[in-house]
Amino acid sequence: MRMVDLIEKKRDGGILTKEEIHFIIDGYTKGTIPDYQMSAFAMSVFFKDMTDEEITALTLAMVHSGDIIDLAKIDGVKVDKHSTGGVGDTTTLVLAPLVATLGVPVAKMSGRGLGHTGGTLDKFEAIPGFSIEMTEEKFVESVNDLKVAVIGQTGELAPADGKLYALRDVTATVNSIPLIASSIMSKKIAAGADAIVLDVTVGEGAFMKTPEEATRLAQTMVNIGNLAGRQTKAVISDMSEPLGLAIGNSLEIVEAIDALKGNGPADLMELVYVLGGQMIILAGVASSMEEAKVILEAKINDGSALEKFREMVINQGGDVSYIDQPEKLLTAKYKTQVLAKQAGYVSQIVADKIGIAAMLLGAGRATKEDTIDPAVGIILKKKVGDKIEIGESLAEIHANTEDYQETLDMILDNMIISNSPSHTQLIHGIIG
Ligand code: URA
Ligand code: CA
Repeated sequence: MRMVDLIEKKRDGGILTKEEIHFIIDGYTKGTIPDYQMSAFAMSVFFKDMTDEEITALTLAMVHSGDIIDLAKIDGVKVDKHSTGGVGDTTTLVLAPLVATLGVPVAKMSGRGLGHTGGTLDKFEAIPGFSIEMTEEKFVESVNDLKVAVIGQTGELAPADGKLYALRDVTATVNSIPLIASSIMSKKIAAGADAIVLDVTVGEGAFMKTPEEATRLAQTMVNIGNLAGRQTKAVISDMSEPLGLAIGNSLEIVEAIDALKGNGPADLMELVYVLGGQMIILAGVASSMEEAKVILEAKINDGSALEKFREMVINQGGDVSYIDQPEKLLTAKYKTQVLAKQAGYVSQIVADKIGIAAMLLGAGRATKEDTIDPAVGIILKKKVGDKIEIGESLAEIHANTEDYQETLDMILDNMIISNSPSHTQLIHGIIG
């Protein structure tokens, strides 16, 4: 087989066989297929798409490019949750301890944030002392004892995806359904969970801009998961405005603690209950979404979810005094209100732009090498649909330098005020 023939075949809209796809992924992983040929291939896939069979073959080839984690030593049905990316997405911080209170093992391998999106690892690390590194033995032991642990990616999980993702990032080929679906699912399958709940985001802050595209991505990933023997469900959720009120690592820890105390923002709690409900149904703890919500709410109301979060922080070396006195996490030097210049209703909060505005303060990374400042970020004072008066605060900036004018301007430009109230629907559907 020659790579050039396979590029040509896909360029002309042909359907690749399983063997051909394995040849491409093996060669790319080993380095016998160079980046320039892989770039051309990715661009052909971008334009010509792939069938479900091709996407499944691509995913499995990437799974087998590296280590496959064996979670057999962890008792119970291991359910993983994964979001396709968002702004201010605090759900994992709440869901991991909450679901664990029901005895459902949450063995979470999380990632870091890049660009306008945040990453769960960065958020946990905002708790002083909290470590996301542990040996596989300690990880298994932690999940067996506490039912929850969060770590960074261990070993060489789907290295073909690592290489291909970096290439896609610089060749304008990220936004392709077959490439996104195989990228995410290869890592989820290699990470060893028995069941997978996907949060497929849609809107300005997400890869998928329309509910139709998001539905196709969700359906594709659910098919792949099921074909690989992992029960998979996908929730399609809105990411046109940031989730909850806090965007920034320490600020989101504080938001998660509020949520675990039962005082979380309405949209965050709704998504927590929908995703958590799917997780505990897959784990066999609840049989309907109505029942699941009652069970999950009870664990928040009786304080056990917050207690589980404390145990998890202590187990991973974090200083639990920050959980008991969350105001200690609010250390940014400058706090500034962004004041509305016009009255009306907030009709849009453009998520990706608000994510970038927070990144400019140091809450995120523009490139992989950037370091982040856990203290900085943005707290929204209004959400879409809220009424606003002139001079009232739209948002609060937490900054560590006085140089936050660009962030302030971006917030003003991207919190759009109109004359009539509007409404966003958070959950667009559930697939699988
Ligand atoms: N997240 C991934 O891991 N891969 C993609 O392609 C997109 C989002
Ligand atoms: Ca948030």
